[in-house]
Amino acid sequence: MKGQILKALRERSDYLSGETLSEQLGISRVSIWKHIRSLKKDGYVIEASPRGYRLVSSPDLLLPYEFPDLEQRIHYFPEIGSTMDAARELAKKGAEEGTIVIAEAQTHGRGRLSREWLSPEGGIYFTLVLRPRISPAYAPRINLMASVAVAATIKKLCGLKAELKWPNDVLIEGRKVCGILAEMDAETDVVNFVNVGIGINANTSVPQFEKTVTSLKDALGREISRKEFLSALLVEIERRQALLMEADLLEEWKKLSATLNKDVRIMSLGEEVIGQAIDIDATGALILKGQDGSLRTVLVGDCIHLRE
Ligand code: BTN
Repeated sequence: MKGQILKALRERSDYLSGETLSEQLGISRVSIWKHIRSLKKDGYVIEASPRGYRLVSSPDLLLPYEFPDLEQRIHYFPEIGSTMDAARELAKKGAEEGTIVIAEAQTHGRGRLSREWLSPEGGIYFTLVLRPRISPAYAPRINLMASVAVAATIKKLCGLKAELKWPNDVLIEGRKVCGILAEMDAETDVVNFVNVGIGINANTSVPQFEKTVTSLKDALGREISRKEFLSALLVEIERRQALLMEADLLEEWKKLSATLNKDVRIMSLGEEVIGQAIDIDATGALILKGQDGSLRTVLVGDCIHLRE
């Protein structure tokens, strides 16, 4: 209901009377007043006068009712350990495809390879529960899909060129702006769920000495609207979900790739592999060409770009 009230107030630049709101939404004026009071508590500035209500400003929080079409599927936390844990619990209990866990900050955010993912307020942290009907071998394509969607959103909303580092980092001018972590629950040939966790350095500031990381705010020189960004990103992801097994997805990733054609060093399952990244295969694995011309497929690992 709060979402619908906000929508109605936003459609109107002038005051909207409690009576009109109550007629439009089919609830009593007292209920309207209670919802308005609760919105004010959330940080919305709403002027009340004898002529009605007027929305003056909104906080840039990722509150569920800021995403009216998705509100029912969103689990929102001002702070949480990790959205991955909450999403796993929900998915285990049968949460439907498209369930989203969003947090304003995480105290135990985690990255790939058991690394910590610093998650102060100002970033965008969420995990999406997906239930793709694909063989588990193709699950890494979900990471590719998510990273392509993030890059497309950065281009669309910020006008910045984002590139992709295999397997699923999003970079701006060679610095990491977004990381993606997928956790799968599967049987031999059936995926039960894949939880895709996306962390974006949005309105956070990166220390000057940090040369490998950036944020959208630092790259743009101004803050962005995180809710607009997340809304647009969820649309980009949804659009690409249908293309998950299409060749177009791989083509899109290749076009945005900062890894292809580079010499790379990959720590993969305790082994160091060096070669030129020449392609990815249908499962999202990286194909490397060694100095002797031999080809090698790398499924997982931490990739370092050496030189062009
Ligand atoms: C990486 O690059 O290592 C992956 C980082 C993934 C971070 C996101 S933030 C939302 C979700 N919750 C977590 O604890 N991790 C992922």
